[in-house]
Amino acid sequence: MGFPFSSRWTLFVVAAVYSSRVLAYTWPNPKLDELESQRYDRLGFNARALASGLIPCDRFEFTNEEPDAVGRLNAADWVRTAYHDMATHDVSDGSGGMDASIRLELDRPENTGRGFQDTVDLLSGESNRYASLADVFALAMVVAVEHCGGPKINYRGGRVDATVANTGRVPLPDEGIVKHISSFQRQGFTQQEMIGLVACGHTFGGVQSKSFPDIVKSGGVVHFDKTFSNFDNSIAHEYLNGTTSNPLVVGPDLTNSDKRIFSSDNNQTMSSFTNPDVFSQTCASLLARMIDTVPKGVQLTEVIEPLITKPQSVALTYMGDGTLLLTGEVRFWDMQEDPTRKVSLKWANRKNQTCSNCSSSLSHTTNQASQFITDNGKTQIQSLWYSFDSPSTQGFTISDSASIGKFWFEIQEGNNKIVEDQNGIGYGLQDMVMISVTSCESSSGLKLDVAVRTGSTPSRVYIEADEISNGLPIVRTVDVTGKPSPLSSLGKNYAIWTVKTTRPARNWNIAADIGGKKYTTSNLAIRGFPAC
Ligand code: HEM
Ligand SMILES: *[C@@H]1O[C@H](CO)[C@@H](O)[C@H](O)[C@H]1NC(C)=O
Ligand SMILES: *[C@@H]1O[C@H](CO)[C@@H](O)[C@H](O)[C@H]1NC(C)=O
Ligand SMILES: *[C@@H]1O[C@H](CO)[C@@H](O)[C@H](O)[C@H]1NC(C)=O
Ligand SMILES: *[C@@H]1O[C@H](CO)[C@@H](O)[C@H](O)[C@H]1NC(C)=O
Repeated sequence: MGFPFSSRWTLFVVAAVYSSRVLAYTWPNPKLDELESQRYDRLGFNARALASGLIPCDRFEFTNEEPDAVGRLNAADWVRTAYHDMATHDVSDGSGGMDASIRLELDRPENTGRGFQDTVDLLSGESNRYASLADVFALAMVVAVEHCGGPKINYRGGRVDATVANTGRVPLPDEGIVKHISSFQRQGFTQQEMIGLVACGHTFGGVQSKSFPDIVKSGGVVHFDKTFSNFDNSIAHEYLNGTTSNPLVVGPDLTNSDKRIFSSDNNQTMSSFTNPDVFSQTCASLLARMIDTVPKGVQLTEVIEPLITKPQSVALTYMGDGTLLLTGEVRFWDMQEDPTRKVSLKWANRKNQTCSNCSSSLSHTTNQASQFITDNGKTQIQSLWYSFDSPSTQGFTISDSASIGKFWFEIQEGNNKIVEDQNGIGYGLQDMVMISVTSCESSSGLKLDVAVRTGSTPSRVYIEADEISNGLPIVRTVDVTGKPSPLSSLGKNYAIWTVKTTRPARNWNIAADIGGKKYTTSNLAIRGFPAC
């Protein structure tokens, strides 16, 4: 099961502020490029899938499969999944933590209900070699909070998916306050932080009678607060003013864990949460720590910040007529429409020499806009996308002898010219290996023609395709063993290597090992090929 993608959000009008042009990292970086897109390409043009599962915030994907699940929502499933995946952590030996081991721990009483399996089914397809399933679980929690009224939460990537279950256990509501305090201590959180985490989590969703019939006798889900699909502090207000119907506060004594936890410091922490900013900021910090709780030895990336100027899907295609076709697009973070703006792409040849006519203007239409929104709309950042598209060819034509070594952008607004060249180094592009336009598909499969620069002697040419196996991302590698044929009709600067394979079902790339170095195309999207 994946997402039926249906973003209903359109254009947002936001204040025009250019972010400071600080480099988050140097492009290209396939891992950070992918994590950054998953994290920031939230709504609109080129949006990634997670937010579409939260529109509206009480959306639930499995209503048809679970018609009795009235009152359930993806957002609550994702937040609870992140907590239960993390809560196996043991600070004393560094075992457990966010590693997607939840999918191997579904037979435990604390993991009752279908929410975890639903989350695995829904989100597996978003993982790939750069974003582990655990990274996707962490991000889903972040997106649920940010998209449904909450603050921005720092997000890092780099989690590693476990292949065996962890030993640490997740708290059950009937365990009593002493055990809960020690359980959170084992997970790495103080008593006060425990109160915070529980309140931050239980701002979404509720208790299902199907999972916990002793707590909720019948009638589907009883929610923790009235605004159960919105991240806000009513969980605290309702608890303190005695209007709450939170089943872990006003349910049977034995399972009133929220009541025991919330009152365990004489309501001090919960009282502080009547200030919405205190609630927001405390949750932002605790939830970030929650998803960064990973097994010992796992190295997380830096906090993923948006790349201000981000080329995407940049690819060269060997045309066989003495030219290469350069396609792609670029995202300008935090940019407003300006019909007078002209954006052009400039490039240097493969020896990094500039030339006067190596320049083309990029195209843009008003639907090429995307949005990133947090804090209930208080923060709205729009990005604009421009395409490498000329009127006559879908892409820019480049001579295959001079070729290309790097490119950059020039933005002209009135008399103001901004050069976006990654602090002078430009955006580098390899031209050693690329797809050839002669690739084609028939009923027996895909004939993939790979163009390899003449004069190089690759020790290996191969394709790498993202796949999902047993719910986890893997890479299928197919060697291109076909003898290279420097077809004279296709020009002398590239030789064609051929392989017959099945068409990749997800993202893929072509790579060549040359002189001990790996050259690779960027991720190539799934697409059709002309018939052979
Ligand atoms: C002592 C600690 C905790 C206990 C005993 C506890 C207990 C429970 C129980 C019994 C449910 C109902 C589940 C169901 O009906 O399927 C629930 C739901 C939930 N919990 Fe907790 N919880 C704890 C801490 C946390 C934390 C720290 C978070 C996140 C930060 C969290 C997030 C959630 C969410 C989002 C739901 C709603 C799920 C839904 O509506 O399907 N919980 N919790
Ligand atoms: C209790 O808090 C909720 C949530 O803020 C609010 O809607 C409600 O009016 C409050 N009730 C009383 C009696 O103060
Ligand atoms: C905490 O607040 C609740 C709800 O107002 C109240 O019933 C309880 O007595 C308070 N507990 C403490 C220890 O102050
Ligand atoms: C640039 O000019 C040179 C010399 O006239 C020509 O060979 C080359 O094809 C031109 N390149 C482009 C991109 O127009
Ligand atoms: C050209 O510049 C790019 C980007 O700075 C770099 O990656 C590449 O190695 C350079 N090529 C040559 C031949 O210097």
